[in-house]
Amino acid sequence: MIDAAIEALAKGEFILLYDFDNRERETDFAIRSDAVTPAHIRQMRKDGGGLICTAVHPDAAKKLGLPFAHDVLRGCGLVEKDGEIPYDKKNHSSFSLWVNHRETYTGITDRDRALTITAVADEVKRSLNGGGHNFAAHFRTPGHVALLRAADRLLDERRGQTELSIALAVMAGITPAVTICEMLDDETGLALTKEDAMDYARKHGLVFVEGQDVLDRWESPGALQ
Ligand code: 5RP
Ligand code: ZN
Ligand code: CA
Repeated sequence: MIDAAIEALAKGEFILLYDFDNRERETDFAIRSDAVTPAHIRQMRKDGGGLICTAVHPDAAKKLGLPFAHDVLRGCGLVEKDGEIPYDKKNHSSFSLWVNHRETYTGITDRDRALTITAVADEVKRSLNGGGHNFAAHFRTPGHVALLRAADRLLDERRGQTELSIALAVMAGITPAVTICEMLDDETGLALTKEDAMDYARKHGLVFVEGQDVLDRWESPGALQ
């Protein structure tokens, strides 16, 4: 499944990315950000229903000046405390800034979010290629797309869909900006079960992959050659 997941991600198809039975137990839609269209946003909000976020590689986040939200908000009394996230006592959330491209109108429409996300991918690509970039010239915050900053050591440090999706992008050799959205159950309001997410994958011809499969490949010798 891991090879099929890497291949589908490279092709610009959605994959379904489950984390771990001892973590969130959530499945996210995941797609390379430079391939996102308004139709993808629609499918994520209607069939996923979670938060549509764009995960960014740590090297690009640094070059673009994208901080962790908890660092920016540290002075504010309600910022998350160490060990506060119930399913991951060792790490903070990966939230960075919330942005809109400056050419969006409200920022929330399918078209606007697709524009913001593809433009973020473009900035990530240019920053990693050493090109000039001026993130603030193109984006404003607050906005309607949540950016997530992957941990510096990726899966060696943190194992959320933020790092899982960026590790997959690195292994696929694509621009490491991946847009993700949790799948929720319309009836219960809870996370869609793994079985139901696998069923959705079968019905829609999508690859379903688990965090453990990503981790096994990531840790295998020569994975990144
Ligand atoms: C943002 C989230 C999601 O769980 C998303 O999958 C990214 O978070 P993480 O890397 O912690 O899994 O909370 O909607
Ligand atoms: Zn979450
Ligand atoms: Ca998650």
